Amino acid sequence: MEMMIRGRRNRRTPAIRGLVRETRLHAEDLILPVFFHEDETDVEIASMPGCTRWSVKSLVAEVESAWAAGIRAVVLFPKIEESLKSQNAMECANPNGLVPNVIRAIKSACPGMCVITDVALDPYNSDGHDGIVVRDGDDLKILNDETVEVLCRQALCHAQAGADIVAPSDMMDGRIGAIRMALDEADFTETGIMAYTAKYASAFYGPFRGALDSAPKEGDKKTYQMDPGNVREAVRELLMDEEEGADVVMVKPAGPYLDVIARLRDETTLPIAAYQVSGEYLMIKSACAGGWLDEKAVVMESLLGIKRAGADMILTYFAKDVAGWLAEG
Ligand code: PBG
Repeated sequence: MEMMIRGRRNRRTPAIRGLVRETRLHAEDLILPVFFHEDETDVEIASMPGCTRWSVKSLVAEVESAWAAGIRAVVLFPKIEESLKSQNAMECANPNGLVPNVIRAIKSACPGMCVITDVALDPYNSDGHDGIVVRDGDDLKILNDETVEVLCRQALCHAQAGADIVAPSDMMDGRIGAIRMALDEADFTETGIMAYTAKYASAFYGPFRGALDSAPKEGDKKTYQMDPGNVREAVRELLMDEEEGADVVMVKPAGPYLDVIARLRDETTLPIAAYQVSGEYLMIKSACAGGWLDEKAVVMESLLGIKRAGADMILTYFAKDVAGWLAEG
């Protein structure tokens, strides 16, 4: 056959494939989400096999071991005792609460680790919603502006404890600008904001809510999280978050929303984070536990796809495993 062009020439050997490879994963791209509680025991999370809800002491050891594996960023998810939950979620801004204590403990054991905190009320809220809830007859209403005020206090509390980046995951309107101003007024001009810009009302968060016992007691999150059918709306959220001072914008979930990542990549010069969420983790884990898929290969491919779509960094429960695999070469 006479052909001027043969695509396979560039795939012939591992060395050539290495030269033409367009996307690569690095441990530095990854952010490890970690779960913890006030208890002194470590509890395996039934809904997320391979993940643990740590005591504070074990969490610090886990963060040190992630650092040794090459991970440079963690994001904190607390399980708050039921007795500390309230309707106005006041505990979220307690300077001696679980999260500020953990930030300080991680920073003193592992000062180079970038500590990112989740800013949202759901772990602290007796209603299990990301914002403050009021009843309106049979309906629940999530109060936007009142919630934003509390989120500002929560973000400031995290910054004061030493968080490098705060990550509002609540999807209230105007929170990025309000948090930026609150941080700046208190002289925390160097604390970054990673905005959950396009956070969809996804069924893939199920296992996470099991891990933290943080599912809404009533209703769903569809009045604040985005409709899975929308992508133009993600661009609109992006424009607002950019204008309000976000340092990083996020798409969540990642795998089922690769087109959203790619679209935002075209529309912004900001770094993009993508969150491979608990349901995506669980799907891979369960298929691999059955021996049906090769875990290492599938995890790497899933993350490579997310990066290829345009993500600069990925939040993934596989972060530590991946760092280990990458080091093996
Ligand atoms: C809550 C929050 C959620 C996740 C991260 N922050 C759950 C939700 O919005 O209901 C989900 C993460 C995951 O599923 O891995 N603000």
